[in-house]
Amino acid sequence: MITKLKVGVLISGRGSNLQALIDATAAPDFPAEIVLVISNKADAYGLTRAQNAGIKTAVINHKDFTTREDFDRAMDQKLKQENVQLVCLAGFMRLLSPWFAEEWRDRLINIHPSLLPKHKGLNTHEAAIAAGDTEHGATVHFVRPALDDGPIILQASVPIMPGDTPDTLAARVLEQEHIIYPRAVRLYAEGRVNVIEEKVFIVN
Ligand code: GAR
Repeated sequence: MITKLKVGVLISGRGSNLQALIDATAAPDFPAEIVLVISNKADAYGLTRAQNAGIKTAVINHKDFTTREDFDRAMDQKLKQENVQLVCLAGFMRLLSPWFAEEWRDRLINIHPSLLPKHKGLNTHEAAIAAGDTEHGATVHFVRPALDDGPIILQASVPIMPGDTPDTLAARVLEQEHIIYPRAVRLYAEGRVNVIEEKVFIVN
């Protein structure tokens, strides 16, 4: 039996990236396991995905808290209760407080649907098409207090084709998200991801 890294996943919705992580972690030799899924929305479909996989879930509604940090502290407490070692944001659509980003520094990663530092924020597919980009993609990165900022672990690029709509492009990018997120978690769990002066070095 290998000792597996304990992962907590934060979601807000559909949870297809969560599903990619669930599928990857199902392999006996995968070095990480998901021990907790937290959603800030009670109706997030990702909660059903987690329950179907027998993973513990929690709903923490941000509207029940007066400050962002109070909400984050409630999530932090749950994550620590389950001895989580790595937090993965997977379509978690809330800004995190600087406190949370520091508390989980280098143990908190996100997937974002663009080739960061291009197209931070929302509507990245529309933005990439509007900018006339010829390529687009997805990024897995460590989280820092600023929005969609932090050392990049992995990126995947896809071409933007003539006639692409935000939806066709999103689908092409999403396919890559589902590949690179589990890959990044594996690298991290294997202890091969080092951050030196805010740059990621992957150890072979
Ligand atoms: C994904 O495309 C993810 O990259 C994006 O939300 C989608 C969630 O889909 N995340 C962000 O935009 C965060 N800034 P999913 O719930 O099916 O994984």
